This record gives sequence, structure tokens and C-alpha cells, in this order.
Amino acid sequence: MDARHEATFDLIARPGAIGGLRLKNRLLLAPMGTNFGTTDGFCTDRDKQYYVERAKGGVAMVMTEAMVVTEGARNHRNSLCVFHDRYIPGLAALVEAVKEHDCTVFGQISHRGGLLRRDVLNMEPVGPSSWRNPNTGDLVRELAVPEMISIQKDFLAAAKRMKKAGYDGVELHGANGYLFHQFFTPRINRRTDQYGGSVENRARMLVETVQRIKDAMPDFLLLVRISATEYVEGGYPVEDMVALAQILEREGVAALDLSGGTNESPELSRFCIQPPSMPRRCLEEHARPIKQAVSIPTIMAGRIVDPVDAETVLRNGSADFISLGRALFADPYWPSKALGKMASPVRACIACNVCFERLTLELDVNCVQNPMLGTEFEDPLHSEPWLTLPKADNGSKRVLVVGAGVAGVEAARFLAARGHEVEIWEKADKPGGQIPLALAAPDKMELLPLWNHRFDMLPQLGVRLRMSTLATAEAIAAYQPDHVILATGSMQRAFPLPDAVGELTVPTLGAWEVLASPDKVPAGAYVTIIGGGMVGIETADLLITKGCRITIVEMGAAIAPAMARNNRTDIMLRLRAAGLRLQLGATVERVEASSIRLKTRDGAVDIPRDPFLVAAIGPAPVRDLAVTLTDMDVPFTLVGDASKPGDFLGAVRDGWMAGLTV
Ligand SMILES: Cc1cc2nc3c(=O)[nH]c(=O)nc-3n(C[C@H](O)[C@H](O)[C@H](O)COP(=O)(O)OP(=O)(O)OC[C@H]3O[C@@H](n4cnc5c(N)ncnc54)[C@H](O)[C@@H]3O)c2cc1C
Ligand SMILES: Cc1cc2nc3c(=O)[nH]c(=O)nc-3n(C[C@H](O)[C@H](O)[C@H](O)COP(=O)(O)O)c2cc1C
Ligand code: SF4
Repeated sequence: MDARHEATFDLIARPGAIGGLRLKNRLLLAPMGTNFGTTDGFCTDRDKQYYVERAKGGVAMVMTEAMVVTEGARNHRNSLCVFHDRYIPGLAALVEAVKEHDCTVFGQISHRGGLLRRDVLNMEPVGPSSWRNPNTGDLVRELAVPEMISIQKDFLAAAKRMKKAGYDGVELHGANGYLFHQFFTPRINRRTDQYGGSVENRARMLVETVQRIKDAMPDFLLLVRISATEYVEGGYPVEDMVALAQILEREGVAALDLSGGTNESPELSRFCIQPPSMPRRCLEEHARPIKQAVSIPTIMAGRIVDPVDAETVLRNGSADFISLGRALFADPYWPSKALGKMASPVRACIACNVCFERLTLELDVNCVQNPMLGTEFEDPLHSEPWLTLPKADNGSKRVLVVGAGVAGVEAARFLAARGHEVEIWEKADKPGGQIPLALAAPDKMELLPLWNHRFDMLPQLGVRLRMSTLATAEAIAAYQPDHVILATGSMQRAFPLPDAVGELTVPTLGAWEVLASPDKVPAGAYVTIIGGGMVGIETADLLITKGCRITIVEMGAAIAPAMARNNRTDIMLRLRAAGLRLQLGATVERVEASSIRLKTRDGAVDIPRDPFLVAAIGPAPVRDLAVTLTDMDVPFTLVGDASKPGDFLGAVRDGWMAGLTV
């Protein structure tokens, strides 16, 4: 348990109120799409499981994700919908289940407007004015006033259904570049009628919707989410936001939920769902003027990772409530842990944005820190077995874990907590496997909790760690384990240089070597990196901090396609600013004394040969011992990169599941 865990957090623990509704503390679950619903918008058991787990984890309010108010405005394939009465029973069951855990429930309702996507259920993008969405390429159709009135009525009908379903209140999504935001920003709204121009006019679409709901249901609590700042040139100034906040207060809105940015493009979406380069509590400076301008409570989200961050926002007077988004994907029990009701460290979000990337790809969300998101294994009985008395479910076994990377360590802590006798053998003299490499590039230190959270727990669980210990057939036979967890990871592949010319030797560094020892490349050097996956661009990102000039050659059509786009965009903006030269769809055919011949779809291309070549062409699994163990008839489980070179999500999930099932 770290020092932070022993700290007390008086301000986040203090009860508060929104409208007349008492909230037991200052921590709320942010609205976050999960894609756990059915394709026709019904709430599933998985939705219920997900929200209930967060209520059990101690938040004072669950805010369900952006729900769809009209059939013509579906956010995602599996978003929850509320545009018809048929959705009421499912939502009512969800609300009832959440309320069993002393938690209030609000729900966000939304219309994406111009951010609707033709390629997602063929939704027609519509907005205040006609424009082309640069992200999708879709043309946005300008709404006529009768259509706008009809959308306002859709919001009212949706809010009425939510009241019937038992929600304590509703939130209008007026932030992040969706319809109400599009009306409010002069960048997009170029109308010349009463819905364009002045602040009052640009706010009118939202304000009329608020009025309809307040007129029809004066006692139903209404919140509005707004983007405190757009983070974009030509975006609305803070005075406009303050004016909007005051208008909303006058109209009877019970609290303002402050977000930031707009989801128009990955560049701007980085300010809604921030990569690790954005500081903790990044919205604070933009939230404070709004809080100071109104007397209703304000709620603030944005990189509030740790209980210390949350307490600081409240102490600074920047907001009244904290909206926790990804922090509660990563650890639903964050509030209980922060408030001293659960003696276990918080599993902190590392801002990798795999969750959001999955949603963008129309997959169900998942979390690298918590791959059991939305499953029964999130329950502390399974996710925190060290909190209960050690007890092996099927008899204590002597388990040998080979490899002290993330996958091995994750398996070891679960196995030990369940009462098995666990020993880890690691051939290197330091634990972590690829972790030091993964931390090497700029901003990647935010990943550290992925490792520390797991590794720091080993001593208290009685796991023995033997460093500089190579697992061989003989050593394993002598140890006589009942079961082996094979977590031997992967190794970078050497660059298979085709056609070296004559006697010419081509010194090629591996990206892993550069990340481990950046001094191998002198400051200001010209470097060609072969391979534009995540490791390639992170190596480039590290080298530009030393003033190196980078060329990346990538055989695929896209850079680091497996990486979360908000984070990839962040790096690519830096690389481009540093003069990156990029060759996509190109394979290295030959390296000459002064040039490199590339094969591209359009034929051969010669580029200058930089003095430094760095290969980042992906890892290969290390699993020779699998054959050995099969021959020896020793039961084993292959986990992490040894099973399939991939990522932390796979490594943590494999380790966790192996730890629960052996
Ligand atoms: C530069 C870089 C950046 C990355 N960034 C990210 C990222 O941002 N997000 C993400 O999801 N993934 C990232 N990854 C991938 C991620 O690091 C790996 O998928 C993950 O660390 C694999 O963990 P593992 O435990 O399976 O294997 P490893 O970390 O490879 O650990 C295996 C361990 O087994 C040991 N071992 C092997 N054979 C033996 C033996 N016979 N006896 C004893 N010990 C043995 C090795 O020494 C090693 O310590 C990155 C990888 C790199 C290289
Ligand atoms: C997967 C995912 C889905 C999200 N969906 C919504 C949404 O439906 N409505 C919304 O207002 N914000 C949404 N957000 C933004 C979050 O509510 C939150 O403002 C943002 O993630 C920043 O806060 P955090 O750092 O605590 O995660 C989403 C974020 C993520 C990661
Ligand atoms: S996937 Fe990454 S960014 Fe998303 S909640 Fe989990 S740790 Fe945080």
C-alpha cells in the first residue's frame, strides 16, 4: 500500500447536493459509451453488470452513456437508445439495479448532429450549417427550423421516458462537438436566422430544449454538459461560455458538467479524451471561470487519475464534483479505495486510450488495466482475491512462472492470492520484460502504474522472485512444479536485410536497443527507421528529443494502425513538426552505400541512406519451452506475448485469467 493510499481525502468524501438531491460524496461516473448494448439499442445484462459494479465501487452518481434520442441519430452500433417506449423496461431494470447500491442515476441524452457517420448505420450528418466533416468526409446537411423543433421534442420525449424508467435526472450532451455544441460554436454555425450570430442565438437550440424539458417536468433534475473550451483557433472565447453557463443557470439547469474539446477529428478529440501528454486535471483552468460565474454546482472531468488529483480540484475551488471517466473503467472501486473503505491500491488509468479506440472501431470497450471490464470477473471476489483469505479453489499447487514481464507478474499475484505456492524465474537481472522499453518514449512514464500496481504487490503475497535465473528443461524438472505459466514474452526480430551489396555491411540497430540506450544514436543524427508501427514511431519520438532527423519507411498503408488514434495523432503531430519524412507502402529492397532502394506500388524509389538505420519490424514470440514442457508432460499455460506478440491488454488479460483458473 503506498503513501497516497494512506492519505485521507476529506473533500471528495464530503456529501453534496445537486438540485435537492443529496449525493453521498463528490465522485460521479462520467458518461462513457461502451457498445455493450444490443444492435437495436436495448440495454443488456452486460450494461447492467458494468454500471452496477461502478455503483458498488462507491460513486455517488452513475451517469449512463450518451443515449440516442432519435432513430436517425445513432452514435454507435450498440449505443443505448431511448427514442421509443420499448426501451423503458430495460433502462428501468438498470436504474433499479444501480440504486440498490446507494447510488443516484442520471443519464445523458445526445444527438451527434454533423458527427453522425454514414459508415455507422448510414446515419445522415445534420447540423446548424452545411460543412464537410473532415474526419469522415461526409457532407453535413443544414437543418431547417421545423427539423430543429422536432429534435427538441425528441429530447423531451427521451427525458420523459427516462423519468418513467426511474432516473433521478437527465443530462443534455451539449459538449464535445455534438449537435448543441455545433450550434454554439461560430466555427460551425454560420446561420443568419435566430439560431446563428450572437451568443443568445447560438445558444437558442440548447436553451429551447432545456425550456421544453423544464416546462414539462419542472421537478426532474436537468444537467447540461458543455465543453469549457474548444482548444481550437476560432473557437468560442471563455466569455461566451460564461454567458452560456449563466443562461443555463437562469433556465433552471441544476448543475453544469464541464468537459472540453470536440470530437470532430483525432487532433481535436485529443482534448476530449486526453493522451498522456495532457497534464492531470487538464481542464481545471478552463473550468474555474465557469464555476466562479454561476451558483449552481459544477462537475469537472479530464485526466483525474488519482484521488490526489480529485482532492486538488476541489481544494482549488475549480469544481464542486468530480466526473471520473477512464479512472472508473480501470478500477470501479477507485472511490471506495480513495475513501478508505477498501484496503487495496487504486489501479490507475494510464491514458493509453485503448478503451476509446475500441469504441471508435465499433468494438465493445475494454481496458488495458482492467480487461475484465463489464464481466463478472470485475467483482472484487475475482479482481481482488488478496482481500479475502488465501485459499486455493482446487487444492494448493506449486506453480512456476517463467518470465517476470507483465503477463507473468499478473498471473503470479492472482495465483498467490488464491493460495498457490508461486515462484517466478526471470533470466534477466531486472524484472519487467519489455516495460522499460515501453516507458522510454516521451510521456510514456504514465504507463508506470500498469507495472507498479502489479509488481509492488508480490512481496505481500509471498511470491518468490528469482532473478538471473534461466528456465531450462533441467532446471524445471529439478524444481518439479505442478504447473508452469509460460510468460517468456517476445524478442524483437532482426532486420532481414535483402540484397546487401557486395562487401557492404549495413549496421542496423534494433529499435529496442535504441530505446534501452538512446546514446547509441548521437544527437542530431539522420536516422531511417524501418517499420512505422507503434515501436517505430515511439523510437522516432524519443530521437527527435535529441534533435535527430527522421525518415520512417513503412510497408503498410498507415502508420501504427493498431495504436489508439488520439495517442498516435499526438505523436505524429510532434514528428511532423520535427520534419518527419515518411514513406508509406514501401519495403526496403536494397541498401547501397549512399541510398536505400524502396519497392513501392508505383515502382522503385531511391532515398538517401542515412548514417543510422533502425529496425522496428515487430517482435517474435519466445516459446521454445512449450515444446519442452509438452515432452516433459508438465501442464502449462502460455500467456502474453509468448502466446501472441501483442500488447498489454493481451498480457494482462492472459495473466489475470491464468491466475484465476489454474
Ligand atoms: C517499445 C515498446 C513499447 C510498447 N508500448 C506498448 C504500449 O504502449 N501499449 C501496449 O499495450 N503494449 C506496448 N508494448 C507491448 C508490450 O510491452 C508487450 O506486449 C508486453 O510487455 C508483453 O508482456 P509479457 O509479459 O508477455 O512479455 P515480456 O515483457 O517480453 O516478458 C517476458 C520475460 O520473460 C523472460 N524470459 C524469457 N525466456 C525466459 C526463460 N527461459 N527463463 C526465464 N525468463 C525468461 C524475459 O527475460 C522477459 O523478462 C510495447 C512494447 C515495446 C517494445
Ligand atoms: C470510451 C469512452 C466513451 C465516452 N463516451 C462519452 C459519452 O457518451 N458522453 C460524453 O459526454 N463523454 C464521453 N466520453 C468522455 C468522458 O466522459 C470524459 O469526459 C473523458 O474521458 C475525460 O475524462 P477522464 O480523463 O476521466 O476519462 C467518453 C470517453 C471514453 C474514454
Ligand atoms: S484502456 Fe487505457 S485509457 Fe482506457 S481506461 Fe483503461 S487504462 Fe485508461
